Amino acid sequence: IMKRGEPGTPIQFGDVAHVLRKNIEQIYGDEPSVDGAPLAEGEVSSMTDGTAFLGLYQYFKKYGPVYKLLFGPKSFIVLSDPTIIKHVLKTNNVAYDKGLLAEILEPIMGKGLIPADNETWKVRRRAIVPAFHQQWLEHMVSLFGECSDVLMRKLEGLAASKTDVDMENLFCSVSLDIIGKAVFNYPFDSVTKESPVIQAVYSVLKEAEHRSVTPLPYWNLPLANIFVPRLRKFKADLKIINDVLDELIEKARISRVESDLEDLERRNYENVGDASLLRFLVDLRGEDTSNKQLRDDLMTMLIAGHETTAAVLTWALFEISQKPDVRSKLQAEVDRVLGDRIPTLEDIKAMQLVRFSVAESLRMYPEPPLLIRRALEDHSLPKGTAGFEARIIRGCDIFISIYNLHRDPDLWPNPNSFDPERYLRPFINKEKYPEWAGFDPAQVTGLYPNEIASDFAMLPFGGGARKCVGDQFATLEATVTLAMLLRRFDFDFVGKPEDVGMFTGATIHTRNGLRMTPRRRTPSPSPVAAAVDRELQGLGA
Ligand code: HEM
Repeated sequence: IMKRGEPGTPIQFGDVAHVLRKNIEQIYGDEPSVDGAPLAEGEVSSMTDGTAFLGLYQYFKKYGPVYKLLFGPKSFIVLSDPTIIKHVLKTNNVAYDKGLLAEILEPIMGKGLIPADNETWKVRRRAIVPAFHQQWLEHMVSLFGECSDVLMRKLEGLAASKTDVDMENLFCSVSLDIIGKAVFNYPFDSVTKESPVIQAVYSVLKEAEHRSVTPLPYWNLPLANIFVPRLRKFKADLKIINDVLDELIEKARISRVESDLEDLERRNYENVGDASLLRFLVDLRGEDTSNKQLRDDLMTMLIAGHETTAAVLTWALFEISQKPDVRSKLQAEVDRVLGDRIPTLEDIKAMQLVRFSVAESLRMYPEPPLLIRRALEDHSLPKGTAGFEARIIRGCDIFISIYNLHRDPDLWPNPNSFDPERYLRPFINKEKYPEWAGFDPAQVTGLYPNEIASDFAMLPFGGGARKCVGDQFATLEATVTLAMLLRRFDFDFVGKPEDVGMFTGATIHTRNGLRMTPRRRTPSPSPVAAAVDRELQGLGA
């Protein structure tokens, strides 16, 4: 047995006592502690109050970028270094699966892409990625505009009557409406109405979140599904959603028009009544997957693409509403490019600051704040800035803390400051991170900064083979809604911004809602906005 944290040092009495306290079998099995990672110790209140990712940040500052955490009967290695994370997600990704995450999500998503084992994943990823083709994404931009317009009309009413509202709730509704239409052409219309299906979607999401922060998998206990009321409700809610999905799949099958991939990619979406991913997956020639697999795929995308995008908008609005200088610049850009039009893809390209605000929201509040992996074989991690090569044993559970990575001051100067213009400035830190290539704006290949331009210091959508398939969809969606919102409204907090609070399950959401009162902006740009606009144009932005 080696001393925790310092490979090669004989174990001391205090260590033995500690290890006994935590139950040696559960922690290390019969193996000595060969990983070499320091054990995170000391009470951190956020580990138990629903903001565990903040606790992991405190441990990161104390123990560095690779440490071991005990959580109930389980132990995890927590990673926060870009080079080491790149190794896990990209270079050596075949050595991992989704482990604990798959165990939690399997009852909901089945063999959908997120929890899928590596074999299933290979087949389904190949089928699903082409569905997100460029032509479709462009068409989706108009769907984003239409659904956001319903939100704008609702807010106009609230502004006229000076009524406050929970913006987080409204963002959840608009993103549910969008994802329902995009994935299976289902009109939730949740901005304007309630329905049992909408309630079921929210309840299932809540249960998934609850499971992700519960150390004991009570849902696997014998007969729990019958005797535990929340599990009975979960089963009933899941059935409501599954019935809707089964019916939609059946309808799509009956009206199938088998087509080659090239034809589907060249579709003129203006003339297509049903532009959903389901339609694409059913029509694609050679795609003869089972109804169950299709349902798993759809359920996965419904859940993956709903609260995540809502959270991006929630935190963007939260930050922008506290920064009048940033807000003025953003409104100047929107006034100049958009006016009162519903955005097109060309408009989005021209609104760099709005796009970078979406990215900045994702940097500060990554959804999810942690990625989860389980090692499939024994191997070592690169040293990175940890100072040692952690030994990973088959079966070891890993947390990749995207929150730590995104809030590391050595990777992102003033990490707690919402600064969308940071993506215009290159940044490199060879002293602290000799193996990290730095952030380079010239390397931003698409419309948003990502893992390529930041050499794995920015991972809002993960990286490597299992990177999010909906990244472009989500960022375009958030940009459209945010731009339309900023054009029409200013927002006043009800209470203080500190009252909003954070809470986490799968995503970071507010603890108390984002209660705000919308105020209609004057249609013509304010003098401040006009002056900033002139300055921006002078800079060639
Ligand atoms: C995977 C984030 C929107 C579908 C992921 C992963 C992240 C992520 C971090 C990687 C998980 C991992 O490596 O363990 C986000 C964020 C979103 C968003 C922040 C919104 C802002 C969407 C949307 C869809 C989607 C809109 C679909 C319409 C998926 C799928 C995967 C995934 C299917 C699994 C990919 C695979 O394993 O091959 N997402 N996502 N996501 N996301 Fe997203």
